[in-house]
Amino acid sequence: MKKLAVIILAAGKGERMVSDRPKVLHHILGKSLLGHVVSAAQTLHPEKIIVVVGHKSDDVKKAFEKEASIEWVFQEQQLGTAHAVLCAKQSLKDFEGEVLILYGDAPLLRAETLKEMREVSEKSHADLLLATAHFQQPSGYGRILRNHHGKIQEIVEEKEASSDEKKIQEVNPGIYLLDAQILHFLDKIEKSIAKGEYYLTDIVVEALKQKKVVETYLVPHEDEVKGINNKSQLAEATQILQKRINEAWMAKGVTMVSPETTFIESSVILEVDVIVHPGVVITGNSKVGKGSEILAYSVIEESIVGNGTRIGPFAHLRPASVVGDEAHVGNFVELKKTTLGKGSKANHLAYLGDAVIGEKANIGAGTITCNYDGEKKFQTIIEDGAFIGSDTQLVAPVKVGKKAYVGSGTTVTKDVPDGALALSRIEQKNIPNWKKKGK
Ligand code: UD1
Ligand code: CA
Repeated sequence: MKKLAVIILAAGKGERMVSDRPKVLHHILGKSLLGHVVSAAQTLHPEKIIVVVGHKSDDVKKAFEKEASIEWVFQEQQLGTAHAVLCAKQSLKDFEGEVLILYGDAPLLRAETLKEMREVSEKSHADLLLATAHFQQPSGYGRILRNHHGKIQEIVEEKEASSDEKKIQEVNPGIYLLDAQILHFLDKIEKSIAKGEYYLTDIVVEALKQKKVVETYLVPHEDEVKGINNKSQLAEATQILQKRINEAWMAKGVTMVSPETTFIESSVILEVDVIVHPGVVITGNSKVGKGSEILAYSVIEESIVGNGTRIGPFAHLRPASVVGDEAHVGNFVELKKTTLGKGSKANHLAYLGDAVIGEKANIGAGTITCNYDGEKKFQTIIEDGAFIGSDTQLVAPVKVGKKAYVGSGTTVTKDVPDGALALSRIEQKNIPNWKKKGK
């Protein structure tokens, strides 16, 4: 296959998002719109990924500072999609091969579709292969005009389309695969009268004029080429991606009681026979092991859950938590940067932060690790088989030894040796006949 370079257009402001944030930095399921497009492009292992930025370009670049593979190009004024590609042309001066052009506001594109497009391009010897899609409601998109042989002639923008042309349901989703030579025709494109912009879509007419082979590729699932221009389309895209991810996990043996209310980010890994109940959110690089059950309304962020473990309902695992096999984390229990060992239980109402808890420990209701003194964070260590009675505060740094026992209501400020009982309770006093006279 020919060498590949990718250009992603992301300079636009996206006025209709009504936001201080650049459009392409809005998120769907934990990743920005542009992030989704970049990820899809990366699966093709291109020589280069060039992203054209303009509006709030510093913000956009900063959000991708870890992506060393991106080459940034600045488009000062947004003079149109053709002008945006022209800005990137300089970076491809000596490049020979294929160029894939994508829009940064279409995050649902699947890598498989791009791979298939490359194969079609190779087989059909196309100089320009343009993706098209059939939309029930094509309004807002450029329409594909074909001649009586069914060959593409041009793309007409909605603004410039006649009422007959507006009825055409085949649209331009904005995905172009072209030979790098075709980029030279960009110079020939003239400003549109209607919008005063240079339209990339005019490249079709220019290429045909030069007797180049222009072919189309019909994208099989129209959902994946939907562009995002407003918050309602953003929500719709979240739903589409949610469904795609959840269905993939169900096919791999995960049970979802209510996939419509379950949000699993694409970076998450779930193993076979995991059961996910309604309202669960799992984000980042989280992993849930075989046969574990995540009960309703639990949130798991960047955390690892072992096999045969039960989380929730209403539990919150904050980043860097690790819950071992066959453990239980119950309702209103929050873990942060905490390891809970195999077979350990924290069943009700607890905050466990910066703690290392061994195996088969029992953490009573209302246990709190006091990990923060207002300046620094400190660690709590609870060793194997320890029993922490209800309503205990563990003032870190502190350690409770193996099989030690902490009585209910204790404030632990000193280490508890293995097997010892710690008690810091004030002795109960009963005052007899206290009941007030006359009552
Ligand atoms: C464009 C297409 C239209 C297509 C639709 C698909 C043109 C002329 N029209 O219209 O046929 O159906 O996308 O969503 O191409 N951008 C820049 N610099 C610019 C202008 C745009 O980087 O000067 C970027 C935007 O940030 C965006 C993308 O290009 O990511 C598309 O631009 P947008 O203004 O949304 O184009 P549409 O009017 O939707
Ligand atoms: Ca658009």
